[in-house]
Amino acid sequence: MKLTCVRLTALLALALSSAQAATLVGYAELKADTFAAGPASGAWNAGLRGEARFPSQPVQGFSGVQRDPSGQGFLFLSDNGFGARNNSADYLLRLHRVALTPATTARRAGQVSVGSFIELRDPDRKVPWQIVNEASPERRLTGADFDVEGFAIAPDGTLWVGDEFGPYLLHFSADGRLLEAPIGTPNLAGLPTLRGQSPVVVAHRGSSGTRPEHTLEAYRIAIEAGADFIEPDLVVTRDGVLVARHEPVIAVLSADGRVTEATADVATRPEFKDRARVKKLDGKDVYGYWAEDFTLAELKTLRAVERLPQLRGRAYDGRFEIPTLAEIIALVRDVEARTGRKVGLYPETKHPTFVTQAAGMNISQLLIDTLKKENFTDPARVFIQSFEVGNLKELRTRIMPAAGVNLPLVQLISSPDEAPYDWTAAGDKRTYGALTSDVALKEIAGYAAGVGPYKRWIIDDQGRTTDFVSRAHDAGLLVHPWTFRNEPTYLLPDYQNDPEAEMRQALRAGVDGFFTDFPATGARVVGQYTVPEVRSPQHHAYAQGVSSGAANLPGSGGFEGLNLSPDGQGLYALLEKTVAGDLPGQLRLMRFDLGRRQWTLAGRYALEPAGEAIGDLAPVNDHEYLVLERDNASGEAAKHKRVYLFNLREKNPDGTFKKTLIADLMNLRDPQKLAPSTTGGVFSFPYVTIENLLVLDARTILVANDNNFPATGGRGREVRDVSEFLWIGLDAPLKFAAGAGHRSAVRK
Ligand code: G3P
Ligand code: CA
Repeated sequence: MKLTCVRLTALLALALSSAQAATLVGYAELKADTFAAGPASGAWNAGLRGEARFPSQPVQGFSGVQRDPSGQGFLFLSDNGFGARNNSADYLLRLHRVALTPATTARRAGQVSVGSFIELRDPDRKVPWQIVNEASPERRLTGADFDVEGFAIAPDGTLWVGDEFGPYLLHFSADGRLLEAPIGTPNLAGLPTLRGQSPVVVAHRGSSGTRPEHTLEAYRIAIEAGADFIEPDLVVTRDGVLVARHEPVIAVLSADGRVTEATADVATRPEFKDRARVKKLDGKDVYGYWAEDFTLAELKTLRAVERLPQLRGRAYDGRFEIPTLAEIIALVRDVEARTGRKVGLYPETKHPTFVTQAAGMNISQLLIDTLKKENFTDPARVFIQSFEVGNLKELRTRIMPAAGVNLPLVQLISSPDEAPYDWTAAGDKRTYGALTSDVALKEIAGYAAGVGPYKRWIIDDQGRTTDFVSRAHDAGLLVHPWTFRNEPTYLLPDYQNDPEAEMRQALRAGVDGFFTDFPATGARVVGQYTVPEVRSPQHHAYAQGVSSGAANLPGSGGFEGLNLSPDGQGLYALLEKTVAGDLPGQLRLMRFDLGRRQWTLAGRYALEPAGEAIGDLAPVNDHEYLVLERDNASGEAAKHKRVYLFNLREKNPDGTFKKTLIADLMNLRDPQKLAPSTTGGVFSFPYVTIENLLVLDARTILVANDNNFPATGGRGREVRDVSEFLWIGLDAPLKFAAGAGHRSAVRK
């Protein structure tokens, strides 16, 4: 029987050896009910104060660890107390000095000895909002003030603590005195726009998803929704006035006279019955009513109708006039006068070749004349776009210089089966595909500031991001694709009817803006990336009612991982959860330069599909870090508790750090049965939170759980969780730099 057991264990160990890369080489635990001196605690429950449950201060759970710079042993950071802000107002934030002696054989138990503590406090009133102990001289900080999740010790001996209520960085003296106001977290979305500028939302024909397109009402709603630019497509009247219509043909008729598409109610007007004509529009016969056959006065008698009534209804038909460009400029000016907001115009010269042929007018000249007359020539507020090439070149080389204006131009690029009509009219057989090569993009940059591509140039019909944006950026061109629409019929299946997903993909691809029929949606999505700060729902601005802005980081998603870079010059801070707008499962790694006191985005860490959060971050050397990754489960439900190594210098194709599994904490070898819970030579660590990680040497890491005192569940529903300390031996050594993990122990 004994032989069978030994064989089984050996077989099990053999089977596991290929899958595991780590062994428990030391173990110790601290019983749950461990207290330190201090006031009674545990009186708060969901914001209501009752009887204190504990006579003093619980020592645990622990959310961060470093070597103790004052000697042997470690400093462990207490978490924020009793699990939530509204029951932790009497839990004092501390770092505890802890001496650890691991069990290294089954015969001897490990020892954990808790010594003195450093109490975090704000006697100099650096926190600019009200704290729990606001009036006391010491102003001891509590778990209702900050949720402290990780810390680092700077070369000067001061303490940097990562919080997740802000999230904030907190800077303390070595003895726990807050040295400066909490430092917030800038929203470094890292969108790869051409010059790092914020993307713009272009209201395509106004808010055309919600009102008939190209009406003052559609433009007004677009501006209120937060559009940066409104887009008038421009056509000419018989008397040479520019008005906003999608096409010169304002109602298309079938051969038997039925309306097949219309943007105005002209076909219902008996007085204009004889105006319908067949004309060649860009080489194709089209039967209908044409703007250039009506005076402005006649067009003003018409009313706009919905172009897509089956999709968007007819609720607003017959209410709004056809606006002139001058009226649209007046609207923009009115908004500016009332609100100070400087909305821009993004006019399109519609069918320049046709306008010359059919009406004998130069639409590009008319546009510049109108903009000059209306004194709307600020290059920061106008983009002129065209599907043709020749008129843009004429604008650049002749019309604008002659008028003394210099506005940015945008070359529109339609689908590859279509062609710029001026090319076609001149016998040039090339299509829009010819405008997308690297050479062509460079040539476009000679006359235009940007390109406006059909969106499938950016994201193909399989939902894959192409290299178009980066190639256009390489040529120095802005990229403003079209057209983003909320209706499911315009969305690829992968978006699962979520139009914001499409916008986010385009933004992550680096577009500098986009045209959308739904500017409210566009502005909301862009806003996720451009709000100045990353904020959790517990950010003080919300708690104090200062701001009504929405949080863009889930609760309990802040600086769980915080550590000093081995060169001692900066802090690396890894957010525990995903910022709104980022790809699901991707976490921002921020760097705070201690000298310049500036944040930068160091990169993105991708969780495994089973991973829901990170627990800690520890440096190995100047470019490699370890991360604790976990799911949100404990006990038998726990599956994913792992340590990964990632490299700051090595990226996956999606831009996230390459990473390697170092230790599966649910599956560690424990041949000596150092831990009481080990079964069959395998140790597992099924706590919901595991928040302490430190590299001890090239082959050994220290890991400990946060027991969320007085929680249960890790080792059984009725068992109060203890703090377990694991010394984990790695099969393959880390490239551990002498400074990493030690510099913080050296006071200079
Ligand atoms: O102008 C770019 C975008 O508007 C696409 O063209 O006018 O046909 O909708 P349009
Ligand atoms: Ca357009």
